[in-house]
Amino acid sequence: MASSSIGKKQVVAITGLFLILFLIFHLSGNFLIYKGPDAFNAYAEFLENLGAIKWMARLGLIALFLIHIVFTAMVVIDNRKARPQSYEVVKSVIKRSWATRLMPYTGSVILLYLIFHLLDYTLADHSGHNSIVNGQAMELYGLVYNSFQNPIRVAFYVIGMTAVGFHLTHAIQSVMQTFGFYHVRYTPIIKRVSLVLGIAIAVGFASIPFYMMFMQSSCVTGG
Ligand code: HEM
Repeated sequence: MASSSIGKKQVVAITGLFLILFLIFHLSGNFLIYKGPDAFNAYAEFLENLGAIKWMARLGLIALFLIHIVFTAMVVIDNRKARPQSYEVVKSVIKRSWATRLMPYTGSVILLYLIFHLLDYTLADHSGHNSIVNGQAMELYGLVYNSFQNPIRVAFYVIGMTAVGFHLTHAIQSVMQTFGFYHVRYTPIIKRVSLVLGIAIAVGFASIPFYMMFMQSSCVTGG
């Protein structure tokens, strides 16, 4: 079933939905940054202490990303092979929304973003010198805070989040389309939900680098 073109699209859609769930979970955890270093570091420690469960979740996440990307590539190759250069096709390309046409580009930016993102935090030393603020060890919170004192990184994250936003505004409506769901009343509502969710997730994530960049270091260390 997964070898047919529709089957491949369904695999992309389902893995995409799980990745959206991860993003919502990740954003909820990241929002603890607004509660302060203690809350955020306690959350990071809680995740760390999950041990084997955390590693299973990580492996699941890696598998989801890989399957999503590989199956997307297969769908693109199938489409190229099957594409007749007719007027109808050209017309359908014109009709497609910006978010749809940008999907391959936003997806590639997200992939590039992720590589730098994992190097920034997951693979970095959480209690090394980059986590020290005003001479105090601030663990993962300090690492994130210090990283966003660099405006280039802030700009890079905002570009990454914009790509995430565009990608998601199209994602949910695309899933519905893939599974053949169309309803005169609900389809426009789903499109709007997709748009709002994409913007909310992107703005939610992007707020963090700005908050960190403009926050005084004395607020981090409490004096
Ligand atoms: C401003 C936005 C973001 C911030 C501040 C942020 C922060 C973090 C931090 C601190 C970690 C390390 C957690 C740990 O090792 O305990 C992390 C891991 C991760 N983040 Fe983000 N993140 C952001 C946006 C995103 C986005 C948009 C994505 C996906 C497109 C993403 C995907 C990941 C992944 C896959 C991991 C690895 C999870 C793991 O190792 O268990 N992050 N992030």
